[in-house]
Amino acid sequence: MRFDRGPSLNTAFGLGAHRCLGIHLARHQLEIALELVTALAPPFRLAPGAAPRMRTLGNVWGYDTLPLVFERGA
Ligand code: HEM
Repeated sequence: MRFDRGPSLNTAFGLGAHRCLGIHLARHQLEIALELVTALAPPFRLAPGAAPRMRTLGNVWGYDTLPLVFERGA
């Protein structure tokens, strides 16, 4: 695995005529899973002074960097 590799076109759900029919269900399931994980995680916030950097690849967007600070769990 190369963490220093450059961005590439994201084809996780395929392209063109055979693009995944379940893309919206799969993304919604991931959204629910992430909500559950963040509900279990200790409270967190954006690191002070941090500047999150976003990027887009076609219609897919995400963060290159999103520095967070986690508070100690109770
Ligand atoms: C993370 C989850 C998923 C990933 C990464 C994924 C990925 C893909 C990819 C790459 C293709 C294209 C295959 C090709 O070009 O031959 C595809 C096609 C397809 N996917 Fe998914 N898929 C996911 C979830 C789902 C779900 C949840 C469903 C249905 C409930 C689904 C239904 C389909 C169908 C029916 C096709 C065929 C579309 C066609 O050939 O016209 N997928 N998927």
